[in-house]
Amino acid sequence: MRRTDFREFTSRKSIQSARGPRKIEDFVGTGIIETTFSKIKPCRSFCRCKRPHCTKNHHTILPGRMRNLDKFVIRGNKPLCGEVTVSGAKNAIVAIIPATIMVDGLCRIENVPQVSDVIIQLEILQQMGARVRSVNPSTVEIDCRGMRNARTPEDLMRRLRASYYLIGALLGRYHRAEVAMPGGCNFGGIRPIDQHVKGFEALGASVSIKNGFVYAEASEGLKGAHVYLDVVSVGATMNIMLAASLAQGQTIIENAAKEPHIVDLANFLNAMGADISGAGTDVIKIRGVRRLKGGVYSVIPDQIEAGTYMAAVMAAGGSVTVRNVIPKHLECITAKLIEMGAQVEELDDAVRVTRAQPLNKISLKTLPYPGFPTDMQPQLGAALCLAEGTSVITEGVWENRYRYVEELRRMGAKIQVDGKVAIIEGVSELTGAKVRACDLRAGAAMVIAGLAAHGVTEVEEISYIERGYENLVEKLQGLGADISRVTVIEDDAIPMAR
Ligand code: EPU
Repeated sequence: MRRTDFREFTSRKSIQSARGPRKIEDFVGTGIIETTFSKIKPCRSFCRCKRPHCTKNHHTILPGRMRNLDKFVIRGNKPLCGEVTVSGAKNAIVAIIPATIMVDGLCRIENVPQVSDVIIQLEILQQMGARVRSVNPSTVEIDCRGMRNARTPEDLMRRLRASYYLIGALLGRYHRAEVAMPGGCNFGGIRPIDQHVKGFEALGASVSIKNGFVYAEASEGLKGAHVYLDVVSVGATMNIMLAASLAQGQTIIENAAKEPHIVDLANFLNAMGADISGAGTDVIKIRGVRRLKGGVYSVIPDQIEAGTYMAAVMAAGGSVTVRNVIPKHLECITAKLIEMGAQVEELDDAVRVTRAQPLNKISLKTLPYPGFPTDMQPQLGAALCLAEGTSVITEGVWENRYRYVEELRRMGAKIQVDGKVAIIEGVSELTGAKVRACDLRAGAAMVIAGLAAHGVTEVEEISYIERGYENLVEKLQGLGADISRVTVIEDDAIPMAR
């Protein structure tokens, strides 16, 4: 299977400046195309690949207006069988890429997932003057020594939640940062960054938020400090860890988040010469160093991607071996799957999940790691629609992460939501429908429901899903699923001659 080279992606700016026909593979699936072009010739007319990143020279794109209407089409009610290999962890790499800004040397990063969040981040670094080279489809070299400034490109920044890691990294390197307020999935209101700000201020930076930008400056440099987080925040923990790595003296973060990607960022920074201990516990100590040197690092496997395939087996039935995982990271998920009636076998770097019987109802509450991850709540919610009896989910991290429920109801699910609690009354079957991905994990939940449902499910707004899942369609096809990615042309599109 051919995978796209990171260099094949291009920026929104270059799309807008294009005058003549362009290749669609430059744009589709990057999350970048939105409203800029329209008249496209779909891949499916000319080849069998049906892939967004197909690089055969047969797509053409003309200037005009286009919305990203691509969708997944799923013919469900087929058990999943076989093996699937998990990619590198999205929520680790989106912090590691900004961390390279602080490194005075070449970073070679392996096990990098090709998802649009990563591609956008690499583009941001390139626009800021970094050299980014794709060594192979999952390895990238980043050299930020030639980076020119601490100002980030606004349009790309707004597409990411993880753009906030640029603040910590730029403060560490330049002692100042100017970063557009983060975008990312909407879980009920504005996603706050007050704990990030609290940490930067403790390190000696002054921080202000004006006109949609975060301005941070530590004119006298950053100095180690004691930071107690009022809420357990993944982003604040990682961001403070970044800035503190190059601060003078020791920083202690208390009530730190413990997610596997926090440990992975600490391991990356330590591999580059930082001095961080305690990552994975709720007290992290960072002794500032003068310089980070280059090196080679391999990103951990994606716990949530693995969990998503496991949840898909729960919904659709079958038996799947999920490879390239760290079983320890999955314990919080496997415990719930076993309660639901699955057989889960742990191998060295794989887990085998088998669902041979009807699903049991369960209760679950999402919590910071090692609790059940909020990023798995929608996927398991989709599977629980088919359990015998009534299940109860309590969302313990985000204000509102139930926007997907309305979509599941269109497929016959019986779910009532009251604040942070969802009551799911199991039904004997779901039926295919047109649904949309409201956010990344909500989109994964729709795919899972579609795999289990009778009939055809069309999942729209898939650019959310492609922010965080690498080759989802191909991986599910490898498990026997009938799923394809369809490029949709707007009504006014004019077919192009080849
Ligand atoms: N919070 C604050 N103040 C802050 C930061 C967070 O009150 O300054 C609150 C949030 O409102 C939320 C809770 O603390 O209620 C946890 O937020 P956290 O900061 O941990 O979330 P995040 O760093 O913005 C990361 C992941 C999310 C994942 C959460 C929780 C990345 C890029 N994102 O977000 O992942 O849901 O941690 O585990 O790492 C996803 O992958 O789909 C995703 C949304």
